[in-house]
Amino acid sequence: MTASTDFAPMPDTAGFFGPYGGQLVPPHLKQAMDDINAAYAEITQRQDFQDELAQLFTDYVGRPSPIFHAKRLSGLLGGAQIHLKREDLNHTGAHKINHCLGEALLAKFMGKKKVIAETGAGQHGVALATACALVGIPCEIHMGQVDIEKEHPNVTKMRILGCKLVPVTRGAATLKEAVDSAFEEYLTNPTDYLYAIGSVVGPHPFPMMVRDFQSIIGREAREQFQAKHGKLPDYVAACVGGGSNAMGMFTAFLNDASVKLVGVEPSGEGTDKPGRHAATLSMGKPGEIHGMKCYVLEDAPGVPAAVHSIASGLDYPGVGPQHSYLKDIGRVQYESVTDKECLDAFMQLSRVEGIIPALESAHAVAWAMRVAPTLSKDTHILVNLSGRGDKDADYVAKVLGI
Ligand SMILES: Cc1ncc(COP(=O)(O)O)c(C=O)c1O
Repeated sequence: MTASTDFAPMPDTAGFFGPYGGQLVPPHLKQAMDDINAAYAEITQRQDFQDELAQLFTDYVGRPSPIFHAKRLSGLLGGAQIHLKREDLNHTGAHKINHCLGEALLAKFMGKKKVIAETGAGQHGVALATACALVGIPCEIHMGQVDIEKEHPNVTKMRILGCKLVPVTRGAATLKEAVDSAFEEYLTNPTDYLYAIGSVVGPHPFPMMVRDFQSIIGREAREQFQAKHGKLPDYVAACVGGGSNAMGMFTAFLNDASVKLVGVEPSGEGTDKPGRHAATLSMGKPGEIHGMKCYVLEDAPGVPAAVHSIASGLDYPGVGPQHSYLKDIGRVQYESVTDKECLDAFMQLSRVEGIIPALESAHAVAWAMRVAPTLSKDTHILVNLSGRGDKDADYVAKVLGI
């Protein structure tokens, strides 16, 4: 069985997924984005680039990542079978390395002198610092002070890897402020710098480019699942912050009508508590943020709302434009999971399967754990386990008093 390519032409040449996406940037930046788009189009046509990336995926990242049948967890829940796509086993511990290698190779190809990015949980920061060390390009990561304190192991790793870490103390000092700060630095010299966006967000071509680099996840998973079970999973679920691990997983399944796709957002302390969740697609409205049109959580038009999630990588008031489109056309169902459900799933998976998930990924696991008991034993749920929880272990132990 092969996927048809109905969804592949998205976005259009102006970077739109239906009404979402685009390039909402000032004219001088539009030129920089167009240059990135042209360079991306060029390298993706080149066999030497494709070969180098494929080789790095195998020898450096450790791809293909396996799919693990969580038999004990499924048995305990007494319903559907839960399977995990083990992106947590990648070098640097999450899916982020997939697009960081692509972006670092692109920066080298374009002759850029510095790669800049934001990070929330620190996974994108570590992955980018790693890819830049490998490729030999200076790297600068902007990170909210709140996240710096919470995600200390990743901060230490970024320093060891030789990147310049810029603490961001303004506003809530989390992911949105880190994006603002990194973007300001990028604007000082868009000719010599590349802003390596950490998710399927921002102006065109980033939502497309990051999705393409991440789509290895779903291509592998679809083939692996089919080979092992002789059919496709009934559900495919992934957590959604900006949405890169979810788009990476969903893309290969978009044209498989039998496969239900579920994106899981953070409802934090409850969607009834404004400012204490980050369920952008469930609770937001179409708007504009960080150079794109997408669903946004806003206090007023153009004023992003405060957001919260126990998972630093998920507390973002915007979301990828392709997710916004997939929600509107009903191809992906978006659900949300609270901080508490996330913590429960984090502990359950750790104690029942011996796998400590990232708090971000634990949202998708929590959704699967919620629905599994309501489904039959021959229903299969494939969850993208986007990252490992080493970075969260101390924080969770403190919160739970372990
Ligand atoms: C392990 C992990 N999963 C998921 C995410 C959320 O990002 P995205 O929605 O782009 O996959 C992050 C972000 O830091 C992460 O570290």
